[in-house]
Amino acid sequence: MKAISLTGIKPTGTPHLGNYLGAIRPALDLAQQYEPVYFIADYHALTTVQDASLMRDNIYKVAATWLALGLNPEEALFYKQSDIPEIFELNWALSCITPKGFMNRAHAYKDKVAKNIEAGEDQDYGVNMGLYAYPCLMNADILIFNANVVPVGKDQKQHVEFARDIALRFNKTFAPIFTIPEPIIQEKSDVIPGLDGRKMSKSYGNTIEIFLESKALKKKIGKIVTNTQSIEEAKDPDSCHIFALYKLFASPEATESLATRYRAGGLGWGHAKAELHHLLEETFQEARTKYFHLMANPLEIEKILDYGAQKARLRAKENMEKIREALGVS
Ligand code: TRP
Repeated sequence: MKAISLTGIKPTGTPHLGNYLGAIRPALDLAQQYEPVYFIADYHALTTVQDASLMRDNIYKVAATWLALGLNPEEALFYKQSDIPEIFELNWALSCITPKGFMNRAHAYKDKVAKNIEAGEDQDYGVNMGLYAYPCLMNADILIFNANVVPVGKDQKQHVEFARDIALRFNKTFAPIFTIPEPIIQEKSDVIPGLDGRKMSKSYGNTIEIFLESKALKKKIGKIVTNTQSIEEAKDPDSCHIFALYKLFASPEATESLATRYRAGGLGWGHAKAELHHLLEETFQEARTKYFHLMANPLEIEKILDYGAQKARLRAKENMEKIREALGVS
């Protein structure tokens, strides 16, 4: 049996190229080595997304994005967290063996408290219980399916460490049921630059979404910040944000050829942007067609998620029965 890799995807916005290169593509690649589990962490998103139509839309968008980019729901377990009630049952059981101090030390909560104190607010201003107990629900996500590895960004490493600790405690206190999960830390070696050259991030407002219509994509690319060199001037590819994005998607030959044109002069920023536009269109053409098809047919997405939920629940139920037995409640 293959080891299980588990990836949680929080539906909080429209996925952009930074998400694609930094998280989506590496997570999809793990399917070659592991039995992949991907789920939409909608109840985690509820700590911040508190509008039903926005939530629904976000869920469709992330589901359609991952499916369009190659997630195969036959091969992988792909479901929505809120469809698996056993996760929330386990969450409670785990919360009873989780030291409150762990939550106090969780980075996201600590940062929020620090900001509040700095701003002269009550330390828990704007903190809901969901945000506070967020890591505990994550532990339930991971342990219910006995995940062996959890690929995460650096910011989530602490959460997986909590999951390890809680699994060990449970195994010692009750019965040796849980697999001890390992984090796989995705070292983002290339920082993916946004429109202004800073790291591409929703919070900077400098993102390029993965699936934009041709015109909208062109408009976005038009906003990439450049210097004021004239068309004729020779240009340095390595200090150009257009080129930095281009080389992340282009073949080595195409990258070299564009670099040569930069250095030769006669290539204007408009030309470079047109090259990037063309490349991104080509790269995502097939996936984009699939994405828009799914977004126009949300029932198809729901069917896929229902299918995944059924498969996932079979396993979750089986594990939950063992857990209840170990707890002495059944
Ligand atoms: N907290 C993760 C994130 O933001 C999402 C997530 C929820 C997750 N549950 C998980 C990731 C379980 C890995 C395993 O980005």
